[in-house]
Amino acid sequence: MFRFRKEAILAAKIPLSRVHQSQVIDRRILEVVKSGNYILGPESKAFEKELAAYFGVKHVVLSSSWTAAVHLLHIAQGIKPGDEILVPSLTAFPSIEPMIHCGAKPVFCDIDDTYTIDPEDARKRITKRTVGILPVHLYGRPANLDAFMKLAKEHNLWIIEDCAQSHGAKWKGKRAGSYTEHAAFSFYPSKNLTVYGDGGAIATQDDEIARKVTMLRNHGRKDKYLHEKVGFNLRFNEIQAAVGREQLKVLDDLNAGRRRAADGYRRELAGVKNLVLPPDDKDGQTESVYHMFVIRLKDNDTREGLGKALKEQGIETGVHYPVPNHQQPAITELYGQLPSLPRTEDYTQRILSLPMFPSITDEEVKTVANAINAYLK
Ligand SMILES: Cc1ncc(COP(=O)(O)O)c(C=O)c1O
Repeated sequence: MFRFRKEAILAAKIPLSRVHQSQVIDRRILEVVKSGNYILGPESKAFEKELAAYFGVKHVVLSSSWTAAVHLLHIAQGIKPGDEILVPSLTAFPSIEPMIHCGAKPVFCDIDDTYTIDPEDARKRITKRTVGILPVHLYGRPANLDAFMKLAKEHNLWIIEDCAQSHGAKWKGKRAGSYTEHAAFSFYPSKNLTVYGDGGAIATQDDEIARKVTMLRNHGRKDKYLHEKVGFNLRFNEIQAAVGREQLKVLDDLNAGRRRAADGYRRELAGVKNLVLPPDDKDGQTESVYHMFVIRLKDNDTREGLGKALKEQGIETGVHYPVPNHQQPAITELYGQLPSLPRTEDYTQRILSLPMFPSITDEEVKTVANAINAYLK
């Protein structure tokens, strides 16, 4: 009997991520359903205001995803064919889609050992056509914003912080997304702040950009029957805004849960040979929110073997990302073979994302760490 129970516990699945749910959110969803008001109503307006206050920015404009929000932002910025934008190759593919749809060219940069865009590598790639930089706060850790603000000032470039994975993270005490003129957030289900579906937003300090994005997301409307520009239907809906408002109230607690789990992994995996833990916040500049906890193994075979061994024990892992964007077929088809990015190409062969979500228990963290220890021994 005892053996059976023990096996049952071991077989329990530990997912890569798990969405925070609550009865309060259930009630709020029903409330909005009954209100009969479903698109860009009072919930969306309040969510925008509350997000702006939380992130410490002047405006937040909601849209149907990060990708949609940034597409609107690039149009509002006047991005045009021939423009070049510096971006890390190691990021989610959507980071570069809006700029390509506007005719601009992503100029892929290597990363440093924090997995975020390397400022020195980015500097080398600046040309007369460079108009902006899109640093990605990957895995919940802010990129080196001081270095990028210096670069932007020297070369008259704009910055958009990709905050899809970094809601609530801080750089030198200020929230990621509030340091530079523009930022964009995703509320996709696995993100630190979700709306139970797709959703996104831009954050900006610029009144005119906020006005244009607000107008473009809703068919270019100036008024109900007056269209200033040909726009889009990339609006936000009320049920998701209500969910987001409740998630925002507990975001700091949820992030604290992620940090607790990260501390647990660090404790349990300290000193394991041939394993590199994620960068910590001991530099005193960053406060990470651990969207993911990514370890680095000796080589690709070890990564693949460990992933398989964990899967057999019901532990889900991921690779973010196995194919760097400068080597994606969609990109080489457009631009041909691009220059090699040595660190990006090396790390993408060896990284593994471990289960990471606010409600992961100390016991679950131990189970994952023990399985890793046993495999690498
Ligand atoms: C770093 C990064 N940028 C952009 C996106 C795109 O977000 P969305 O799915 O909301 O368009 C994601 C989500 O996968 C992401 O992780």
